[in-house]
Amino acid sequence: MMPFLVNFSLFTGSILIYLYPKLPQTNQIDFIEWLIVLGGVLRRSPRKEFINMPSVGLGLVGCGNFSGSLAAAVLNCRRARLVTCYDTDPEKQRRFSETFACAHEPSYEDLLQRTDVDGVLLVSPNAEHAAQAVLAARYGKHVFVEKPIANTIAEGEKMIAACDAAGVTLMVGHLRRRSGGIRKAREMIDQGAIGEPVLVEANVSSDSGFNLTPDKFRWCGDDSGCPGGALMTSGIHHVDTFNYLLGPIKSVSAYFKKLFISADVEDVNLTVFEFESGVLGYLGATYASPYDNWLYIHGTRAGLMWLVPRPIPDTVKFPHNKDQYTRLMLLEKNKPPKDIPFSGGDPVLEEIDEFARCIQSGERPETDGQVALGILAFIRAAAQAARSGQKVQLAG
Ligand SMILES: NC(=O)c1ccc[n+]([C@@H]2O[C@H](COP(=O)([O-])OP(=O)(O)OC[C@H]3O[C@@H](n4cnc5c(N)ncnc54)[C@H](O)[C@@H]3O)[C@@H](O)[C@H]2O)c1
Repeated sequence: MMPFLVNFSLFTGSILIYLYPKLPQTNQIDFIEWLIVLGGVLRRSPRKEFINMPSVGLGLVGCGNFSGSLAAAVLNCRRARLVTCYDTDPEKQRRFSETFACAHEPSYEDLLQRTDVDGVLLVSPNAEHAAQAVLAARYGKHVFVEKPIANTIAEGEKMIAACDAAGVTLMVGHLRRRSGGIRKAREMIDQGAIGEPVLVEANVSSDSGFNLTPDKFRWCGDDSGCPGGALMTSGIHHVDTFNYLLGPIKSVSAYFKKLFISADVEDVNLTVFEFESGVLGYLGATYASPYDNWLYIHGTRAGLMWLVPRPIPDTVKFPHNKDQYTRLMLLEKNKPPKDIPFSGGDPVLEEIDEFARCIQSGERPETDGQVALGILAFIRAAAQAARSGQKVQLAG
């Protein structure tokens, strides 16, 4: 770092001496600020960091619907490289390895035995997450697992214990909080832009339930498949966001109904809940109505709305995971809605980059096993509330 600082100081000093007197007085301050910013950017430049740091090798498990999003992010991440993949379906595995130019393995254990694999990306069905994470930890591999951490609390706890015992990272793919608009909403709430939060409303729906067939893991609504249906699959993203924006949730009531789809799982979920702060909220999630995805926080002075605006392009897969298809609006009394700019990023790339950084540095990921377990606890409590018709308290 020292030679860099010396060179940088000489460089900026020379520019200053030459250009500064030639600038009009009003531009002289801007010019100095610009040099300071440039210094900061250069100092933090990933290039410097990567000179002595090899990228981490990743093996992806489960080459289905979501695997392409993660693989594309790995290809765009300077800290990581995609080494290999595994899927129980040889055809899917072959197609994935051709598309993303990586190797493929005859079994999951073969993938874990590779010395060039530092960590696994588990994109397999929910019910496989626990066994695969525990085995990865035994092989000393770091674990990134897609949401939900698992279908049950007991499985999630086993995963955390196994990764802690092996001293490996456990990160869970909760990415909605990483959307630029949600990060901005948090900043605005913390700065008091909406006054005191009062109520939160949210919905995430799609008609994907009509396409479920018995070979798909979401077909089955018990612990072997996807309990909680659309709430576990999609509503879960807003649950993480609630915790991130407004703190822990204290209690939940719920209605789950199976009304329209053939799969043996509820297709309409409604949860009503109270935060520890006293703020109230409700979340709707369906498998049986056209795509919708929004979150609205009402405050004493104003409201904030994050959404994927219509028309939603048919050609874009997972538009909610791409900041350019999302919007944040401030809704103030007697004023038209105001678009709030935010720095558009790539939430999937951010999480892959963070996973790789945690492997390199040993730091703890933002969405670790405990964060994910809290989100799963909400969904399990909602399911219990829906079955019993009683409000359920979440353990504090
Ligand atoms: N973060 C997000 O936005 C997001 C979006 C979609 C899915 N997901 C999560 O990703 C995971 C996978 O979902 P999906 O929609 O891609 O499912 P999918 O059914 O399309 O894909 C799952 C793949 O895993 C394979 N598989 C099944 N058992 C396996 C095993 N034991 N070992 C290896 N591969 C196995 C299947 O053949 C299939 O190719 C789920 O946990 C889901 O919740 C996250």
